Amino acid sequence: MGKKTVSSVNKSKEKRQARKLEQRRIADGMSYVTSANKLKELAPLCKELLVYSNKDLEIDMYIQKVSELDKKVLDWAISLTERNMKSLYETCAWGWNKDDKVEQMMDDTAWYLIAKDKNNKLQAFSHFRFDMDFGDPVLYCYELQIEAEGRRRGLGQRVLSVLERLAQATRMRCVRLTALTHNPTAAAFFRACGYSLDETSPPKEEISHYEILSKATEATAMEDDTLPEPPNTRIELAGA
Ligand SMILES: CC(C)(COP(=O)(O)OP(=O)(O)OC[C@H]1O[C@@H](n2cnc3c(N)ncnc32)[C@H](O)[C@@H]1OP(=O)(O)O)[C@@H](O)C(=O)NCCC(=O)NCCS
Repeated sequence: MGKKTVSSVNKSKEKRQARKLEQRRIADGMSYVTSANKLKELAPLCKELLVYSNKDLEIDMYIQKVSELDKKVLDWAISLTERNMKSLYETCAWGWNKDDKVEQMMDDTAWYLIAKDKNNKLQAFSHFRFDMDFGDPVLYCYELQIEAEGRRRGLGQRVLSVLERLAQATRMRCVRLTALTHNPTAAAFFRACGYSLDETSPPKEEISHYEILSKATEATAMEDDTLPEPPNTRIELAGA
């Protein structure tokens, strides 16, 4: 056992501090996620974005937890997902398994944004969750589906704007999502909306049929006084 030099002592001190900071960052993230999932309503955080019109499309949106969603609306969301995605899933390593998809869509932590037109016809939805993902508090967009007749009128972009506002207001680090690489529409759409390859996306040489995309929330959100405070659930760190 040799004598420790000043530089090696400093290095291990730096490492300890970095570890503590990382633990604190994760603990804070977890408290933001818990806080977001405890909210009864999300609409007040994004009210002005929930009404949208463009060309002949007039849309009203609402947001509910899956437990509050009307069964007919959930059935429509499942059917739209199947109509839009089944063939894309079937042509990649995932395959299409309706039971698995339904189970995912009915998870207790699922939130739904539903868009209806002026004739009360369901036009679009997003299934999203507030969750910890690779140590980050994120709003994960599990699904964004639009009826064929409602596309290319900016509705998809508006739905993402709502998700981005919610992510910012609840102190999530980003909106993150998984996109199939052989879905050129989705690739063009998400890039046009400012999404890029996320650091957690698997290397292309290992996995090529999907990629993880994300868009960071604006840093200014963290200083906004109007944001809901997280509950006092910070984990006390030993020696912190
Ligand atoms: C992908 C999807 C959500 C896009 O929604 P949308 O409402 O049609 O998109 P927007 O009108 O907001 O498009 C915004 C921009 O994205 C790009 N974009 C959208 N659709 C595109 C397409 N088919 N081809 C090329 N670019 C496209 C364009 O730049 C567009 O702007 P522009 O119309 O001014 O040129 C919709 O096509 C859809 O539901 N597809 C089936 C399901 C799916 O693939 N979901 C995504 C993966 S989960």
